[in-house]
Amino acid sequence: MEDLESLKTQILQNIQAAADLKSLEEVKVAAMGKKGAVTEMMKGLGALAAEQRAEAGKKLNVLKNEIEQAISVRREVLEAEELNKKLATETVDITLPVRPEIQGRIHPVSKIYEEVVAIFGQMGFDVADGPDIEDQFHNFNALNMPPNHPARQMQDTFYLPHDANEPFDMDKSYVIRTHTSGMQIRTMESKKPPIRIIAPGRTYRSDYDATHTPMFHQVEGLVIDKTTTMAHLKGCLYDFVKAFFELDEIPVRYRPSYFPFTEPSAEMDIGCLKTKTELKVGAGNDWLEILGCGMVHPNVLKAGGIDPDEYQGFAFGVGLDRLAMLKYGIPDLRTFFESDVRWLKNYGFSPLDFSSMTGGLSNNGGLIR
Ligand code: DAH
Repeated sequence: MEDLESLKTQILQNIQAAADLKSLEEVKVAAMGKKGAVTEMMKGLGALAAEQRAEAGKKLNVLKNEIEQAISVRREVLEAEELNKKLATETVDITLPVRPEIQGRIHPVSKIYEEVVAIFGQMGFDVADGPDIEDQFHNFNALNMPPNHPARQMQDTFYLPHDANEPFDMDKSYVIRTHTSGMQIRTMESKKPPIRIIAPGRTYRSDYDATHTPMFHQVEGLVIDKTTTMAHLKGCLYDFVKAFFELDEIPVRYRPSYFPFTEPSAEMDIGCLKTKTELKVGAGNDWLEILGCGMVHPNVLKAGGIDPDEYQGFAFGVGLDRLAMLKYGIPDLRTFFESDVRWLKNYGFSPLDFSSMTGGLSNNGGLIR
């Protein structure tokens, strides 16, 4: 028992000297383990006389508590040191530049625009460009829609005053074009047949929901020659949808329809599979309307200065945004025009992959997703 003080001093020193949790554990075992110094002393109590035993037992218990207390204090210090060491090795240098990443994305509408131009370009079509602000002659009258024609009501037109200083006059006012069909007339005015053009561009209607926005995009097509027929229309558009959806085969059907500027008029549907969560183009028993088309009305040819007894042709109009939604599975049209970079990062395309018929249209390999 005389050794008790020196034993205590020794153990407490060892606790202080333990440089890490492992050595602290060793100190603990050496003192309090099955064969530890304090444990051995406890065992020795039995050999003492009764009154000595009680006093020595008390002292030993006090010693045990002191050692345990010292170990737990030291453990806390060592644990904190270890954590700090670990944190120091895991620091992030926030001043470093971000991982190399391709910056900038091509908007899906621009991508579809490129794709459509690539497909019709290969078929020999020119690209025609015209104004967004249009007069009523080109947007309506020349397309066989005279004032008060009921079809004008089908389009929720934005009208613009012809002169800011005069009272609004419906007959004289301009429009922001409701469709790209006016480009049929502008092309006939500036070119002699044979004509083979597409006219992609912005169009505007007062409408807003998940599939309609006040500004959207269409592409108009026009082919005029002496012997152009409905069979050419069907073959051309069939080739277009196959190339566009990058499929070898795709079911198509034409339903009779009405547009003032074509006679006969039709709408083209493509075969698809509709489930609650998905729309798969090219297979299945459902149909999806994708464009309007028809043979150019003789009145339209006349309005464009072309003799309908000598020439005939076909026209079509497709919604570019709708094509983008279908091809790239984008559910809400409004998101196209919200300028949210996170959206563009998700749905956009690599600026380095240009669409071509030989190099690939959508460049799925280059898709940044
Ligand atoms: N202009 C029509 C629209 O906006 C689309 C259209 C249908 C254009 C038939 C055409 C056509 O050239 O032949 O709804």
